[in-house]
Amino acid sequence: MQTATELEMLRTAIARLRDGGKTLALVPTMGALHEGHLTLVREARRRADRVAVSIFVNPTQFGPGEDLDAYPRQLAEDARMLEAEGADLLWAPDVAQMYPDGFATAISVAGVSEGFCGDSRPGHFDGVATVVCKLFNQVRPDLALFGEKDWQQLAVIRRMARDLDLVAPHAGAIHGVPTVREADGLAMSSRNRYLSPKARTAAAVLPRAMREAIARIEGGAEVAPTLAMLEEALLGAGFAHVDYADLADAATLAPLDALGPRPARLLVAARIEGTRLIDNMPVGPQGD
Ligand code: PAF
Repeated sequence: MQTATELEMLRTAIARLRDGGKTLALVPTMGALHEGHLTLVREARRRADRVAVSIFVNPTQFGPGEDLDAYPRQLAEDARMLEAEGADLLWAPDVAQMYPDGFATAISVAGVSEGFCGDSRPGHFDGVATVVCKLFNQVRPDLALFGEKDWQQLAVIRRMARDLDLVAPHAGAIHGVPTVREADGLAMSSRNRYLSPKARTAAAVLPRAMREAIARIEGGAEVAPTLAMLEEALLGAGFAHVDYADLADAATLAPLDALGPRPARLLVAARIEGTRLIDNMPVGPQGD
């Protein structure tokens, strides 16, 4: 596996990887890799001849007072894990490379960026969209893979890619991979390592309470009181704050107060010991 830290190196490495008409998949990450990321790399290897992984802790998607400085950075260990998974290229630019002096452009995706994390983390999705657009332009992949754990992020990136003609215009070009979970159901996240043992135990209530709420809604219970019970369960388990616990249209993210004919998703963000955890799960029939 080759590591590129500058654009010139990246371009040379990509030209070599693509030699003979090889296809290229990109897995964008912020590093601190875990099994969820490695699942993306494995899926990328199934779908393309060559796999590039980017590691860049993107400052523009962190708000004031968020965990930009504390965010775990372990490039050498990440590189070893990627090498073992058979990734071909690691793109690891620094901040100056990504945002040169005078950088003044931002991409804002209306609609799907609004509500949920868009409300509780103002500016977050502009930062995500801008850096992912840059990554697409730098690497020019045939497809890119993202975890479904960040469901709203996936919707924002799909919208942006369609609107700006980024990546090949076929259905699987932005590929979402189902969330990988710990044995107790907690969605894997680089932020789980912030949790004390006590909070880590309490955090497992999140997926459990979500599954219970989904079973009730699918069984015909009213949505609003069911979501209120879900919030109470989280607060009772030791969560300090629930940013949101909502049912939404899986594609448009329009809030729903009842299940309808289109696939729906339960989306939750909640804070425990200052760590913000997010999760989402399908509700009702999801179609093909
Ligand atoms: O999901 C992430 O790790 C980040 O938001 C991403 C997509 C790599 C952009 O910085």
